[in-house]
Amino acid sequence: MSDRVDSEFRAADWDSYKMATRDPFVELEPVDAEIALVDDALAALVARGIIPHARYDRGRFMTHREAVRAVFEIPWTAITPRQERLIWALSAITQPRRMVAAGVFCGFTFICNAGAAVGPGATYQAEDLVGVEIKAQEAQRAERNVRLIDPTGVARVIAEDAVQVVADYPAQIDLLYLDANGDRGRGKGIYLEILEVAYDRLTPGALVLAHNSVNAAEKLADYLAFVRDSAHMSASVNVILDPEGLEVSVR
Ligand SMILES: C[S@@+](CC[C@H](N)C(=O)[O-])C[C@H]1O[C@@H](n2cnc3c(N)ncnc32)[C@H](O)[C@@H]1O
Repeated sequence: MSDRVDSEFRAADWDSYKMATRDPFVELEPVDAEIALVDDALAALVARGIIPHARYDRGRFMTHREAVRAVFEIPWTAITPRQERLIWALSAITQPRRMVAAGVFCGFTFICNAGAAVGPGATYQAEDLVGVEIKAQEAQRAERNVRLIDPTGVARVIAEDAVQVVADYPAQIDLLYLDANGDRGRGKGIYLEILEVAYDRLTPGALVLAHNSVNAAEKLADYLAFVRDSAHMSASVNVILDPEGLEVSVR
């Protein structure tokens, strides 16, 4: 049962802020406006007890953004610049040592998370950041992309089923990122399947991020009801900066 349906942060222009998915780096607004909005979203997450503070190194973020833009091969992405900044900032603030990201496609969403710990914009040290992509060719491209940013291998992409990877993961997980659209007819329902498998191994205070909390809300109904139930997650906020949305939950 959902007991926190009113828990959201919504940008006034969330539905008109639209990107060209095949041309993802086109400037959609002045960077100061992007910073101010993401600051407001982070402050809302602090107020709900999801993150401890809202400070992150904006200069390091820009170093990260520019490095990724220079070398990544991205056929398309629906991750907007606002979402990219929000995801990077959440990692920079909470500093997850171990992350599993499910459904990373070409690796762009994954490096938004991992780039706070690896590459030229890194602000802390992580132990193991694994991106999982079920399509072998996409996983290979994502791994190629990530290697150009992180020569160390702390961040890596593997070609597997995220449900299996989480089930077999040998340690506690500090950040779970969900973006898989499911295979074999499983669809977005796979988010809940992955979370249920991971649940007992999430560290107290672990973040769980779910992309498409707005444009796939219907398909994610069971997932959203689960994370918005305080019996399962201590807090959850739907952060609506763009038409896709990101549900940010804390264990
Ligand atoms: C829609 S894409 C994510 C793209 C991302 N939102 C972006 O805009 O850049 C979802 C990816 O999840 C992958 N996927 C589907 N089921 C999966 C599973 N069980 N494990 C890992 N990846 C999976 C798909 O192959 C696909 O590349």
